[in-house]
Amino acid sequence: MSKDIRAVCIIGWPVEHSRSPLIHNFWIGQHALAGEYRREAVSPEEFADFIKELAQRGYVGANVTIPHKEAAMALSAPDDRAKAVGAANTLWFEGDTLRSTNTDVEGFLANLDQMAPGWDRGLDEAIVLGAGGASRAIVYGLLSRGLKTIRLANRTFSRAEALRERFGGRVKPVKWDEVGGLLAGAGLLVNTTLLGMNGKPALDLRLEDLDKSAVVADIVYAPLETPLLKEAKELGLRHADGLGMLLHQAVRGFSLWFGVTPEVTPELRSMVEADLAKPKPE
Ligand code: ATR
Repeated sequence: MSKDIRAVCIIGWPVEHSRSPLIHNFWIGQHALAGEYRREAVSPEEFADFIKELAQRGYVGANVTIPHKEAAMALSAPDDRAKAVGAANTLWFEGDTLRSTNTDVEGFLANLDQMAPGWDRGLDEAIVLGAGGASRAIVYGLLSRGLKTIRLANRTFSRAEALRERFGGRVKPVKWDEVGGLLAGAGLLVNTTLLGMNGKPALDLRLEDLDKSAVVADIVYAPLETPLLKEAKELGLRHADGLGMLLHQAVRGFSLWFGVTPEVTPELRSMVEADLAKPKPE
C-alpha cells in the first residue's frame, strides 16, 4: 500500500456484516481522496495488540464494533462523551496519542433531527428499550437534549438499574412487561434491543396508546423497516430508522480522519439500502 494513502479500518469480531466500508468508501470516492477503508476481523484476544500496532499497520484511525467498544475506550484516550457512555466506536490520532469518542450519540440525535424535526421541542418523557452500549449512548444523548424522564425498560432489570446508577435519577428503570402501560405518557419510544432484527422475534408491543405526536425510533437496520417501524408508519407516527443512525454516526469519524465533513444524502442512503436488500454474506 502506498504511504500516501490514508487507511482506516473497522475492527470487529465478526466484521463481515458491517456496512461502514460501503459508507466511508462512498465518501472517499465522492471527495476524490487518496484513502481506503477496510474491514479487520480481530478476536478479543488479539485486540489489544492490534490497537497498539494500529499506526504501524498503516492506519490513521479506526471504527470499532462488537465486541470491542469497551476495550477500545480502555486502550485509548477517550473524550468526555466516550467516558460517559463507557464505550468508544471511533479512534483517531492526535499527534502520537490515540484518541477515542462515541459517535452513536450524535448519530442517534442527528438522525432524529433529520427524520422528525423538532422532536425534542417540549419533550419531557421518553421510553428507551434495552440497556446495552447503544442504549447508554442514546440515553446520554437524550439527557443532553434536556429530557426530564427516561423510562428505561430492559429484559434484565438489573441492567436498567445500572443505567440509573450511571446517569442519575432522570433515568427511571421500569419492568419489561410494564412498558405497554406507559406508552400514553411518552413523546418518544426508542428500541435499542435486538428485537425486530432479521432472525429475532419482534417486540411484543402495541403502539395505539402512543400520542399522535409521538416519535418512534429503532436502531435495528436489518430489516430496514422493522415490525415496530411498520406499525408506527401505519399509525401515522413520525419515525426514525436504524440506517439513518448508522449513516449519521459515520460523519464525525470521516471528518477526523480525512479533514472533510461528509453529508448524509439520499444517494448514500439508496446505495446502502441496495446493499441491505442483497442476500446476506455468510
Ligand atoms: P449493544 O451493546 O449493541 O446495545 P447488548 O449489550 O448485547 O448490545 O444489548 C442488547 C440488548 O437487547 C439488551 O438490552 C438485551 O437485554 P438483556 O440485557 O436482558 O440481555 C436486549 N435483548 C436481546 N435479546 C432480547 C430478547 N429476546 N428480549 C428482550 N430483550 C432482548
